[in-house]
Amino acid sequence: MTDILLDVDTGVDDALAVLFAVRHPGLTLRGVSCVAGNTDVDQVVRNTLKVLDAAGAGAVPVARGASRPLLEPHRDAVHVHGRDGMADLGLPASVREPAPEHAIELLRRLILTNPTPVTLISLAPMTNLALLLRAYPEVTTKLARIMVMGGSASVGNASAVAEFNVWHDPEAAAIVFGCDAPVTMYGLDVFYGATASPAQTAELAASTDPGAAMAGRLLHHAARISGDDHRIGQPGGAHLGDAGAVCAVAEPAGLRTRRLPLQVELASGLARGQTIVDRRSLAGDAEYHGSALLAERVEVALEIDGDRYGRLFTEVLLGRVGAA
Ligand code: RIB
Ligand code: CA
Repeated sequence: MTDILLDVDTGVDDALAVLFAVRHPGLTLRGVSCVAGNTDVDQVVRNTLKVLDAAGAGAVPVARGASRPLLEPHRDAVHVHGRDGMADLGLPASVREPAPEHAIELLRRLILTNPTPVTLISLAPMTNLALLLRAYPEVTTKLARIMVMGGSASVGNASAVAEFNVWHDPEAAAIVFGCDAPVTMYGLDVFYGATASPAQTAELAASTDPGAAMAGRLLHHAARISGDDHRIGQPGGAHLGDAGAVCAVAEPAGLRTRRLPLQVELASGLARGQTIVDRRSLAGDAEYHGSALLAERVEVALEIDGDRYGRLFTEVLLGRVGAA
């Protein structure tokens, strides 16, 4: 069993990730922290509680975190995720209550008291994680890994070169990528590769299971909004988005990574929020003339078996995957 924590800005694909994390037999979801991103942080909390209801989760603690980035203003993505941040499905409010403590207090408590090292999966702007690492740096000794859905070694989505979660709070991302816990960057180079086919989406949507049906409705929304993105490998497919990063924790064999130098561009201007990944095998003229090489510190995901994760997601949500 792998004990995990999720940091989310629920969010259509964050919701897919939470559904999968609750249902996969080899994962134990210990808690969820919420941060402003796709929508405002209070809506993120409301959405996350609704997803836990649909998933049939037990008493998974959920805590409210940062309402804006460290320096930037909050800039939502409701044009992608809908007015309520979760495809405007019109779901009833949950009767669950969020935990009374701040998200970084919940994360600290759960990390330090867990009997085994925890995998922290970041699916949102990294404001909560940066605040946690600065306030309680000792948590890295109890983290097995930080799996970050964020960044890109190539093309952006929020801008030509920056991925949304990093673009939203670049300073926070720099703190996380520079911390001394093992970090994997599940960026846009693989993000669009994990997809559900139209048939898989239809089967989920037709299910009588509330979690599977919610997943199907969310995937229909994803296909409608970004189905024609050239990075999605199949016509009419829906990318799993954040859920792909959780699939990669559940089954790492579906992901190929390389340990590479990485730096977040913090200067204002067109490239702010870019994750600059050095994939050269030799130093170049810049280094010849005195520039320092970037430190190798992050496992960067470069290839993904997207169909494998599409099948895994569908089978888990339909209850066809037995105990690990
Ligand atoms: O760039 C995609 C990421 O930004 C996903 O985590 C999505 O939910 C948004 O937060
Ligand atoms: Ca997200």
